[in-house]
Amino acid sequence: MCKNHEAYNIVDGILSFTDQDHFDSHWEDNYYESIPEMKLNAAERFLQPILKDDASSNSLYLDAGCGDGVHLKVLNDVTPSREGNNVALDISTSALLTARKRDAKNWEFIHGDVGMLPFASDSFDASFSFGVLAYTPDPKKSFSELVRVTKPGGKIGIWIYPKSGGLGGWVFGMVRGLCKLTGSIGTSLISNMIVPVLGLLPTQSKLSLANASWKQCKEVVLVNIAPEQLFFPEPEEIEAWFKDFNLEITSNDKNNPIAIWGKK
Ligand SMILES: C[S@@+](CC[C@H](N)C(=O)[O-])C[C@H]1O[C@@H](n2cnc3c(N)ncnc32)[C@H](O)[C@@H]1O
Repeated sequence: MCKNHEAYNIVDGILSFTDQDHFDSHWEDNYYESIPEMKLNAAERFLQPILKDDASSNSLYLDAGCGDGVHLKVLNDVTPSREGNNVALDISTSALLTARKRDAKNWEFIHGDVGMLPFASDSFDASFSFGVLAYTPDPKKSFSELVRVTKPGGKIGIWIYPKSGGLGGWVFGMVRGLCKLTGSIGTSLISNMIVPVLGLLPTQSKLSLANASWKQCKEVVLVNIAPEQLFFPEPEEIEAWFKDFNLEITSNDKNNPIAIWGKK
């Protein structure tokens, strides 16, 4: 119970600030899977702006939408001497349990919504969200929450898959439409059909059956085709968000989908 007498649940040692629990079945299926090397590499590349500058400091980080914990694992592996109560937040309890199992050193696990972060303003030295804002009902509002909880002078990093045009974009739209029509059973069947050809598709993770297990590949396919609602922006739209919140863009990896870091 907090000082305003609001009561919050603690489930399996994880404090919950939301009664929503999305994406649980997705992460339950992956509880026993390891994190593919390709995903770890992509996470390390995304985190470069904070790994470069803060490697030896004890800056406080927020991983908003931590999923199965790939970014917190990279941060712990690359900077083993860091200490502090960094926060890994997700709307899925199963994701948090999976992430906690990976590496809990220096991390608190919080069940919450990135669209309404349960933290005071100016709390973190860096807040980042990899592949998460696109799933939220109001991605720009979620982004504003990352900005709010970051300290002045702190860093905000986001990764979002952009709108894909041409034939590829059209096929992708068709597949997503088919998933909506056929529900969870149809979506699972479709994802199983895509897994063998995943390596031939222009994915950022470059995951395929040559370097990952069937379940690991299926996880990547499902996050793209299963969600009812997904937001695919133009890169300029995301750059405009940074300007709207008076953030200085400090890193914009043009060879990555949309991977931008800014300073508050
Ligand atoms: C594609 S996964 C990415 C996970 C992780 N960041 C990674 O890079 O592997 C998207 C994650 O966002 C979480 N998520 C979706 N909507 C959310 C919200 N409103 N608040 C917090 N997490 C959310 C999902 O539960 C899921 O773990």
